[in-house]
Amino acid sequence: MAASWLLKHPCPPARPWTSTRNATGPQLITITYRRTTCTGRSAAVAVKHQEEGTDDEWLAYLEPAKLEVFDQLEPWAEANVVPLLKPAEVAWQPADLLPDPASLGADGFHAACCDIRARAAGLPDAHLVCLVGNMVTEEALPSYQSMANRFEAVHDLTGSSGTAWARWTRGWSAEENRHGDVLNRYLYLSGRVDMRQVETTIHNLIRSGMVLNAARSPYHGFIYVAFQERATFISHGNTARRAKEHGDVALARICGAIAADEKRHELAYTRIVGKLFEIDPDGAVRALAYMMRRRIVMPASLMTDGHDSHLFAHYGAVAHQASIYTASDYRGILEHLIKQWGVEKLVAAGLSDEGRRARDYVCALPQKIRRLEEKAHERSRQKAQPTTSIPFSWIFDRPVNITMA
Ligand SMILES: [Fe+2]
Ligand SMILES: [Fe+2]
Repeated sequence: MAASWLLKHPCPPARPWTSTRNATGPQLITITYRRTTCTGRSAAVAVKHQEEGTDDEWLAYLEPAKLEVFDQLEPWAEANVVPLLKPAEVAWQPADLLPDPASLGADGFHAACCDIRARAAGLPDAHLVCLVGNMVTEEALPSYQSMANRFEAVHDLTGSSGTAWARWTRGWSAEENRHGDVLNRYLYLSGRVDMRQVETTIHNLIRSGMVLNAARSPYHGFIYVAFQERATFISHGNTARRAKEHGDVALARICGAIAADEKRHELAYTRIVGKLFEIDPDGAVRALAYMMRRRIVMPASLMTDGHDSHLFAHYGAVAHQASIYTASDYRGILEHLIKQWGVEKLVAAGLSDEGRRARDYVCALPQKIRRLEEKAHERSRQKAQPTTSIPFSWIFDRPVNITMA
């Protein structure tokens, strides 16, 4: 199996240095540079896959008996998921949060823009990098709607399907669309970022797509999105709090409005997965373990600006240091979901052997991550970690200090 996995996943072209990530935590901690060898790291990964079950394991979720669950759940989704969407007339729109040139007139609009620029002038570069990274992530929405439409049994077959699942996905996408729009317009008006570089990054990211394990399985997909929605809720919420501390109340309001949407989306996806845990606990917990063993990779991990070959890792490190999204947040999300879905309370009698192993693995994972956090904290307490200055093209190549491990 190891050999066939290696054939399907040949070694990447030799690069002198590559960033590596923690196997149990997010890619947002510190960055380690290490030599990659085909017989070393790749072989170890192949063996790890063999130990954890084959990559084909998730294909069992595409069998008709598993997918029929979602047909049966459609009336439930109609009653419990679709109502979580807000009609366009009631929802906030970017125009509500930014100066309106039509009503303010030329002078009023100019004054309002000067006000935005004055407040944004107080934002530290690290905060701007986080804000741009968040905005770039939101702007790659075409990839996320495509992702949802790869989930078997719940996808939008015609593009205007009337099923509850399809209407949810379109409504969710419409709400998400406002997030990138409002952040993009704010950053444009702020005058603090190199918009061409930011736009190039968005262009590249949409072209590159996103990484998602078990991409066609709705079980795995909904788990991934539930995790992501909570991650974005935390990230935008923290960005709002920091913006307020730095005196930019307009930005705090924008990020706060986005965070509130993400919270509602989190509720929807958490509710869907919760229902799966209720009717198929064995299938649900095995899918959760599958996703956690491979780590939840942030949807913008393929971002590039054409300058920094480790852009995503660098953005992640800045977000960690600025307390916008940290390793502890990753663990906290997992702990929250374990609680929400009652994973610890799953009774052994209702689970297969593999299901019991999956439950035990998932429930032990937060503690493992916590120990890694403590070790990292201890290392930095004993010996100051070296910092390096990373220039970000998004902010005209001004450098931001990042701690290296
Ligand atoms: Fe969003
Ligand atoms: Fe969302």
